[in-house]
Amino acid sequence: MIDLVDKLVKYKDLSEEEFLYLLDNQNDFSEKLFKESRKITNKYFKNKIFVRGLLEISNICKNNCYYCGIRRDNKNVKRYRMSKENILKSVQFASDLGFKTFVLQGGEDPYFTDEILVDIIKNIKKISPNSAITLSIGEREYNSYKILKESGADRFLLRHEAASNELYKKLHPEEMSLSNRKKSLKYLKELKYQTGAGFMVGAPYQENKDLVKDLKFLKNLNPEMIGIGPFISQHDTVFSKEKNGSVDLTIYLLSILRIMFPNANLPATTALATLSENGRVRGIEVGANVFMPNISPDFAKENYNLYDNKLYTNMECAENLETLKSNFKKIGYEIVMDKGDFVQVD
Ligand code: 5AD
Repeated sequence: MIDLVDKLVKYKDLSEEEFLYLLDNQNDFSEKLFKESRKITNKYFKNKIFVRGLLEISNICKNNCYYCGIRRDNKNVKRYRMSKENILKSVQFASDLGFKTFVLQGGEDPYFTDEILVDIIKNIKKISPNSAITLSIGEREYNSYKILKESGADRFLLRHEAASNELYKKLHPEEMSLSNRKKSLKYLKELKYQTGAGFMVGAPYQENKDLVKDLKFLKNLNPEMIGIGPFISQHDTVFSKEKNGSVDLTIYLLSILRIMFPNANLPATTALATLSENGRVRGIEVGANVFMPNISPDFAKENYNLYDNKLYTNMECAENLETLKSNFKKIGYEIVMDKGDFVQVD
């Protein structure tokens, strides 16, 4: 019988039953899986890690996701919204450090109209003409995504969160729907954004069969970027008493994703680093090739608390880039400041 890992390497996909078996039997497959995903990472990225400057532009959100610390109903959040001037100042600071990708992430804050964003995007491109701008600001209309793209946005991160309808409903209030989420992702792909999807690992009620749905959904969407990280409970949310996701399972899934999407950009996320001291390095060792240092001002870093104990000091900060570079160098990796566009292969 052909080994499931060999099959995954060959076809970059498996049937739902096979994926479920792979997830249910981590101990049997992890060693070989990690070996293969390392080989693939090395082939496509060598030892390079791309960095993106992450700017948390607003923690005001009209949504009420049960897991998220900046959900609308959380009255204990000190809400903030960065001004255009502050956003541009942060971008200038990161650009001076050599960053060539800026990720503008925030809650779904109605203040950020197309007009306001277009002005910000154009000004960022003036500061750093050859940079890539990534937006991560939630669901919008087709026309809005189009206007933003035409004004200079290059990439868009919108995690699908859960590809199983039942699970999606357990994680989100009535007014949100998986079909809207999928519609937005379809628009982003149509508009030729480098598109990122992704999900939390170990979210409440999530089972391996749900993760199988996530893998199949991603295969079908074929995103250029995939962000996954463990669920971490936040004390003021509906899920305050739920247990955190597993670092091991996150690593296992990163390895599967690297094999399924050899050249996709896969970040080693802050959530992974928050839950385990060596989480980030382990992620990188099995296939993550992106790291997103925080370039936000302190007031933003301190209040963009999607989950408890979110890291925002030391290695998370752009100011410590040199230390970061030397730390990675010690373990054989090179931090590169290139734009790090998705490159189509085969
Ligand atoms: N734990 C882990 N990740 C979370 N996110 C939101 N809340 C949490 C949490 N409690 C993730 C979501 C979102 C991304 C920006 O952060 O997947 O898409």
